[in-house]
Amino acid sequence: MICLGIESTAHTFGIGIVTHDKILANVRDSYAPKEGGIHPREASEHHASVCDSVLKQALKKAKISLEQVDLVAFSNAPGIAHMLRVGAVFARTLSKVLKVPLVPVNHCIAHVEIGRRTVGCKDPVTLYVSGANTQIIAYQGGLYRIFAETLDMGVGNFIDTFARYAGIPFPGGPVIEKLAKKGKYVELPYSVKGMDVSFTGILTNLRNKLKTHRLEDLCYSMQEHVFAMLVEVSERALAHMQKNELLLTGGVASNSRLREMCKVMCKDRGAKFYVPKKEYCVDNGAMIAVLGLLMHDSGAKFKKKDYCINQRQRTDEVKVLWR
Ligand code: ATP
Ligand code: FE2
Repeated sequence: MICLGIESTAHTFGIGIVTHDKILANVRDSYAPKEGGIHPREASEHHASVCDSVLKQALKKAKISLEQVDLVAFSNAPGIAHMLRVGAVFARTLSKVLKVPLVPVNHCIAHVEIGRRTVGCKDPVTLYVSGANTQIIAYQGGLYRIFAETLDMGVGNFIDTFARYAGIPFPGGPVIEKLAKKGKYVELPYSVKGMDVSFTGILTNLRNKLKTHRLEDLCYSMQEHVFAMLVEVSERALAHMQKNELLLTGGVASNSRLREMCKVMCKDRGAKFYVPKKEYCVDNGAMIAVLGLLMHDSGAKFKKKDYCINQRQRTDEVKVLWR
């Protein structure tokens, strides 16, 4: 069975083509704002303008024709409505034209499932850190539950906003990581509340310190504080649930300091640490296809309203029939 997955929750439009044994293609095209943050209308126009060419490239890469597709999956939640709608319309059209079933997929769960499929962990605690999302997810009692999350913004957006204040264009993460290598320690707030984390206070503090401190020192200290917060709650989640695998994913998983801190924590408690290949950590269509296939195989049934976009669906609202 060949499943075609469509991702369009945020700044990336992606199409992945997968079978039960192989990931045949994973093509994506991302919108980057000329200045400032993501502009929803511009991002959705970007997606609409690239969807045909991304599809063509994906089919070519997979060496299949469109008619060979047996199943279409799309990320219907959570995300920004403008962009979600482009993916939804594209997916519905393909499924109608090809006369194949359509599977609505939760984007956050797809990040976990492509991790499980490509790196071989079985029952991980997942630290999912991207632009809009910061969640610690683990499977328990038929659901992917959120054991910890951000109380305000996603860690990637936090890093990008700090970068913007410092005059670094989007995406700021990779530049900040480089600058951090030349920095020294400066005290910043440390904001863990129970199992949750919060970033807006640290952001204001950093913004104020931009006038008085070296940027390199702020980048270094930001990473040390914020990643320590994420690792602290990840460790607590591992301990509470007595799980022994940590899966790090999302765009911020590219950061080598965050990886190193996760690795050290896992080593200390005898847990295994996993990070998927970068193309499967960032937003991508293959993960949507992987989860679409799992849901289809599990016999999941959908009502008309399930095919609608759902900007705010939470990870634990989806019944997990495939585990
Ligand atoms: P989502 O829709 O899941 O929130 P997204 O649209 O933000 O995802 P991703 O590609 O998963 O897309 O993540 C992008 C984020 O990752 C950006 O905020 C970017 O700054 C951050 N990022 C990328 N590389 C690094 C890095 N080396 N260090 C820190 N952050 C990074
Ligand atoms: Fe994502």
